[in-house]
Amino acid sequence: MQIKAKVLGTGYFLPDRILSNHDLEKIVDTNNEWIVERTGIRERRIAEPDMRCSDLAYEAAQMALKNANLSPEDLDLIIVATDTPDYMFPATACVVQARLGAKKAGAFDLEAGCTGFIYAMSVAEKFLLSPDFNHIMIIGSEVMSKIMDYTDRGTCILFGDGAGAMVLGKSAGTCGIVNAEIGADGTGAGLLLQPGGGSAFPASHESIDKKLHYLKMSGNDIYKFATRIIVEISERLLNKAGLGIEQVDFFLPHQANIRIINSALKRLKIPAEKVLLNLEHCGNMSAASIPVALAQADEKQLLKSGAIILTVGFGTGLTYGGALIRWGRD
Ligand code: UT7
Repeated sequence: MQIKAKVLGTGYFLPDRILSNHDLEKIVDTNNEWIVERTGIRERRIAEPDMRCSDLAYEAAQMALKNANLSPEDLDLIIVATDTPDYMFPATACVVQARLGAKKAGAFDLEAGCTGFIYAMSVAEKFLLSPDFNHIMIIGSEVMSKIMDYTDRGTCILFGDGAGAMVLGKSAGTCGIVNAEIGADGTGAGLLLQPGGGSAFPASHESIDKKLHYLKMSGNDIYKFATRIIVEISERLLNKAGLGIEQVDFFLPHQANIRIINSALKRLKIPAEKVLLNLEHCGNMSAASIPVALAQADEKQLLKSGAIILTVGFGTGLTYGGALIRWGRD
């Protein structure tokens, strides 16, 4: 299979402030034991009130550029995957483009919820087939705390803030994105959403009183969808690439709930030591979960050249997708 795009550098940024389960016990009717047992999360990072999505994205992008040994002028495109952009418009990617000084780069946002970074990888991979694009920055950046209802224990215990970035370039060798797949089932669009602020329910006193500006989720429905779809996509990607599950060196699922991840490990027969996790200390960072975990593993030099990474996402939309990556620069 011809590899079109390879990873040139990764980066991430996490805000300093930690919100632990014990902190949450003081503001909502929950407890540490329930959260740890039902989700695997112990703490999450929370951005300062004046921090925006673009601030986190910018920091992660700077680190990825440095690791790729590239300057901002080398970028042809910037894609920011996010549920929590700075504004409804313009795109957060434009704000990041200006701050980086990436004058040559086009810039747009991509909304695919927790699958956003996988969607961005898939889109960037196709752009890199064109002679007009040589270096693409993709970023998953989320300030989930800004749309959390801290009186809703079904959601506020789950989410955290952070950003992860990756620079992709053309590949003529054996390393890079082996294949990437994206999909959606829009019939589930009402299961996880921020109802207010868009054209369906524009911001008004009424929309605020009804708390429509906060994230709403039917947790159980998403849970069932997630456990099913992770296995389906993983098997499809492996079949398409002609690889066996035993050839996967690292499994990187979206970090939503440890029970979802453990169920996938069991059904796919992947040993627990192959999974990359940051859920315990970061919570669910939506589009940022996967790129942060990848950049953290890269920083720790866990990912050896030639290692096969299977990454899978799922989320609002309902969206889903996955990618197989052969790590390295060759
Ligand atoms: O990244 C986007 C995709 N999102 C996801 O993948 C989330 C998927 N869903 C989940 O991870 C789980 O459904 C949750 C963690 C959200 C909920 O876990 P659950 O095991 O499905 O719990 P539940 O909603 O069925 O609630 C079980 C009980 C209920 O009490 P009763 O009715 O049995 O008395 C809840 O009220 O647990 C209660 N509960 C809590 N108790 C303490 C729910 N949330 C909490 C809480 N603390 N935070």
